[in-house]
Amino acid sequence: MKENEDILILAVESSCDETAAAVVKNGREALSNVIYSQIDIHTMYGGVVPEIASRKHIEKIDPVVSEALRKAGVSKEDLAAVAVTAGPGLVGSLLVGVAYAKAYAYAAGLPILGVHHIEGHIAANYIENRELEPPFLCLVVSGGHTELVVVEDYGRFRLIGTTHDDAAGEAFDKVARAIGLGYPGGPKVDKCAKAGGRKDAIAFPRGHVDGNDFDFSFSGLKSAVLNYLNSCAMKQGGPVKDLREKREGDVNFNPDALIDPETGVTVSDVAASFQEAVVDVLVTHTIEAAKSLGIGKVAMAGGVAANGALRERMKNDCEREGIKLYYPSPLLCTDNAAMIGCAAYYDYLAGKRHGLDLNAVPGLGLGQKI
Ligand code: KG4
Ligand code: ZN
Repeated sequence: MKENEDILILAVESSCDETAAAVVKNGREALSNVIYSQIDIHTMYGGVVPEIASRKHIEKIDPVVSEALRKAGVSKEDLAAVAVTAGPGLVGSLLVGVAYAKAYAYAAGLPILGVHHIEGHIAANYIENRELEPPFLCLVVSGGHTELVVVEDYGRFRLIGTTHDDAAGEAFDKVARAIGLGYPGGPKVDKCAKAGGRKDAIAFPRGHVDGNDFDFSFSGLKSAVLNYLNSCAMKQGGPVKDLREKREGDVNFNPDALIDPETGVTVSDVAASFQEAVVDVLVTHTIEAAKSLGIGKVAMAGGVAANGALRERMKNDCEREGIKLYYPSPLLCTDNAAMIGCAAYYDYLAGKRHGLDLNAVPGLGLGQKI
């Protein structure tokens, strides 16, 4: 790497069930973004099986990295650094990426940078919104996180709200399972709700946490959906287990299937009403936080930020309040390595480097030193 040249970073992400690698130029441009998704394998088990995930990462990581370099048209001599997700995530999955990235960096004589997965999700916004710069408020909504974060500067974050129980994505996944849509829940609920679901069919509760207007709670909503399904099943004289088994994993599943023949409520109605309750809380809290902090820029990050209803409602409400909204395209919302390369770029500029003792940190907190 010579002076004044573009800074190219090879990034690796393996925190959960996606094996991903990317080459990112100057923190803002993904020259390649290769993702091998293990979803089909885990679908058979109704969720991610950690042991299988790490074995698959071992199998796929080398071809995925080679493809990322090939697609970007670069070789190791062109790279400035190697970046890798160090946490949070599944320990076995993280370890594969960390070990691979360290070995690659050592062999190529390159510096290594460990990146926080959530900082990566936030940085995904920089790729398609080149004008976006801190400070801004970010709603982080993924399978394991639901957080309101003030991005004060590159690499400087202030957590102002978090979930007290389930993450938003987790609630999507659990409800999807209960209504027979299977895994992965979020995209399936999204699609099912769109297929004619009425968002006002059932008035599910909006979670509220006493004492902090920006915190979240989704376990009450999840229970309300399960109770509703139970009461419908009881009305039909059958235990809820039968109701679920009929639908579980049914690829020809019909969104118009009746949940309650008496009221005409269908599966898509339950999906849309549940989704509306989640979206309502996420958007209301975000707008309130932006207004009370006087922040005019809001971004969204993480898998749930791919949700169609959330994007639409957030867009409308931000427009109404005169807030500028940013969100990545769906592929950059869910796990990918381009976002890791992007976050790493700013760490790289700040002089941050890790040694070969870099380790996976499954419970890594936002802003916690790696
Ligand atoms: O960010 P991500 O890919 O992985 C984690 O870091 O957790 O997020 C995965 C989560 C899953 O819970 C998935 O169901 C949810 O994001 N998700 C969605 C959508 N696409 C993915 N939730 C709602 N609507 C979607 N379209
Ligand atoms: Zn993620």
